[in-house]
Amino acid sequence: MAVYLDHAATTPMLPEAIAAYADALSVVGNPASIHSQGQASKRMLEEAREQIAATLGCDPIEVVLTSGGTEAVNLALKGLWWSRNRDAARPVILAPGGEHHATLDTLEWLEQHEGAEIGWLPLDGNGLLHPDVVASALETYGDRVALVTLLWANNEVGTIQPVTEISALAAEHGVPVHVDAVAAYGYLETDFGAVRAASGSTGAAGLVAMSVSAHKVGGPVGVGALVLSRSAKVEPLLHGGGQQRQVRSGTQDVAGAVSFAVAARHAAAHREAEAVRLAALRDRLIDGILSTVPAAQLSGAPGDGRLPGNVHVAIAGCEGDSLLFLLDMAGVSVSTGSACQAGIPEPSHVLRAMGRSEIEARGALRVTLGHTTTDEDVDALLAALPAAYEQASRAGFADRTTTLGH
Ligand SMILES: Cc1ncc(COP(=O)(O)O)c(C=O)c1O
Repeated sequence: MAVYLDHAATTPMLPEAIAAYADALSVVGNPASIHSQGQASKRMLEEAREQIAATLGCDPIEVVLTSGGTEAVNLALKGLWWSRNRDAARPVILAPGGEHHATLDTLEWLEQHEGAEIGWLPLDGNGLLHPDVVASALETYGDRVALVTLLWANNEVGTIQPVTEISALAAEHGVPVHVDAVAAYGYLETDFGAVRAASGSTGAAGLVAMSVSAHKVGGPVGVGALVLSRSAKVEPLLHGGGQQRQVRSGTQDVAGAVSFAVAARHAAAHREAEAVRLAALRDRLIDGILSTVPAAQLSGAPGDGRLPGNVHVAIAGCEGDSLLFLLDMAGVSVSTGSACQAGIPEPSHVLRAMGRSEIEARGALRVTLGHTTTDEDVDALLAALPAAYEQASRAGFADRTTTLGH
C-alpha cells in the first residue's frame, strides 16, 4: 500500500462523508422547487449550510457554496474589485508574493483585462507577511486600495499569517480583506466572526471574505465556500437563477453540501487533538530529514508558526521532481508543492518570494500529513529518503541532463 503524504493536495474522503454523499445523491428535488420533494432537498441543504457555518464562525446566510476553493477565491477577488470600482477608482489590490495560483492568476487576469494594479507585499525569509509592511502599503496607496488579499496559511511552506492584525489595519483604512483559508481550514481555528470581532472589522471593512474547500478536510472535490460578510458587496461571477443572495447563481449541489458538512463537522470536532498529534509527527519528520540529509533546509516558519501537518524542505543540489519520482517508486507519495508545467519543473514561486535563489527553489519537497497519517508513514518516508536523495543528487538538475542528452 502506498504511503500517502500529500494531504495538502487533497486528503482522503472520510467514510462518513462518502456515505452521506451517496445517500444524498439518491434524493431527488431541486431545492428551489416548491413541491414537497424540493422543499425536503432545501431542508437538507440549509441544515448542511448551518453546520458548515458553525465550523467557520459565521451565520449560515454568509456561506456562499461554490464549486471549490478556486471559484471562491475568484468570486472574492473579482467580485470585490468590481464592486469597489463602481463608485470610485480604486484599482489597487494589495497581495503578498507566494500566494496560491488561484489568487496569482486571478490577479494577473484583473491586471491584464480590467486595469487592476497589484501592490505586491514582500514576505520575510520564513514566508511571513509582517503587519508593518501592510500598514505602510495602506498608507502609500491610500484611497486607491480596493482590497487586501492573503493566505491564512501558505499551502506550500505552511507559514501562518497574522490575519487578525492585518484585518485590523485594513479595517482602520476602511478596506475589505479576503483571506484564502483553504490550507488552514480544519487545521487551525478559522473563526470568521472571531477575527472580525478581534480586528474591529465592521461593515464592509476589515475581514469580509474567506475561501475554503471541502476536499482539504475530507469532503468531496468540487465543493467549497466563500464566507461573505452580510455587509460585503461583490459583483457576481455567474448570472442566472439568482440563488444564494444573487451572488452565486446555479442549482445548488445538495449532496455536495451535505457531504461537506459531515467532513467539516468531523474536522472541527477533532481539530485540536489532531493538531497536537500531527505537530508531533511533523516535528519527528523534520528532525529525521534534517539529520539524514544534511543538505536539507527547512522552509517556512518554525514550530507553532507553521501548519501542524506541513513539512517543507529545500534540498541543495537536487531537483525536487527527481526526489518526488524516486520516492513514488519507493511507494511514498509526496509533492514539490509547486506547479510542474507541461512536465518542466518550475522553481517554487513561494520560495522565490521568500528570497531563495532559483537553484534553491528547485530542490523543494513538501510532505503534508493528515487524518490517515501514522507513525509508520513517517518511518516509511524517513527510510526511503536517503537512497532517493543519493540518486537525485547524482542526477542533478533536469535541464542539465536534457542538455547533455541533445
Ligand atoms: C491555498 C489554496 N487555495 C486555493 C486552492 C484551490 O482549491 P480547490 O482545489 O478547491 O479549487 C487550493 C488547493 O490546492 C489551495 O491550497
